[in-house]
Amino acid sequence: MTVNIGVLVSGEGTNLQAINDSVESGKIANGTISVVISNKPDAPALKRAEKNGIDTLYIDPTNYKGRRWEYDQLTLKALQAHGVTSENGLVVNAGYMRILSPEFVRNFWMREMNIHPSLLPAFPGLDAPKEALEYGVKITGCTVHFVDEGVDTGPVILQEALSVLENDTVETLTNRIHEVEHRLYPEAVKLFTERKLLVEGRRVKVLL
Ligand code: GRF
Repeated sequence: MTVNIGVLVSGEGTNLQAINDSVESGKIANGTISVVISNKPDAPALKRAEKNGIDTLYIDPTNYKGRRWEYDQLTLKALQAHGVTSENGLVVNAGYMRILSPEFVRNFWMREMNIHPSLLPAFPGLDAPKEALEYGVKITGCTVHFVDEGVDTGPVILQEALSVLENDTVETLTNRIHEVEHRLYPEAVKLFTERKLLVEGRRVKVLL
C-alpha cells in the first residue's frame, strides 16, 4: 500500500525537491507526496511543489500565537484530507520552522521525520553549522530522526558524518551538509515506505 506523504516546509524546499525526485525516479516506489504545507506564504518550497504538480497549502499562523495545538489542528486536518493519516501516512518536516505541539506529534507517533544539519545530539536547534564551526569540531554531519515532543530529540534513523575543513565558512559547511541531506532524507523516506524501520525505544533498526 502506498504511503501518503505530507511535507511541512517554511523555506527553500531543496529537501522536498530531493524527496520528490526520488518518488518520480521510482527510487521511492511505495510513497507519494500528497500535499506540501507551509506556515510561510512566500516559501520557495511552495513554488517548487506547484511546479511538480503537488497540492500545496499555506496555513496562516498570525491569529494562533500561543495556541500551538489549535494551529496544528488545521495542519492535521489538511493532512488527513489528503490521506496522510496516523494509519497510513508519513509527515516529513523539511525545513519547517515551527515546533509542533505534543498533541500533533503523538498523533503521528513514529510517523513523522525531521532532518537536522548536525550529528545529534550535538548542536540541536537553530544555526547548527555555525555552532559546529564556532565550537571547533572536526566532524559534523546530518541526522534524520523521528519527531518526539522535544526539539531534535527523537530516535535517530540515519546519520552521516562529514569533515569540517580548515577554510570552511558557515556557508560552505552548510552547502556540503545540504548535499548529504539530499541523499540521506530520501533514503530514510524510502526505508519508511518499505516498512524497513523498526523502532525499539530510542533505537531504530534498519531491516535489510
Ligand atoms: C535543512 O538544512 C535542514 O537540515 C533544516 O532546514 C534546512 C531546510 O532546507 N532542518 P530546505 O528548505 O530543504 O532547502
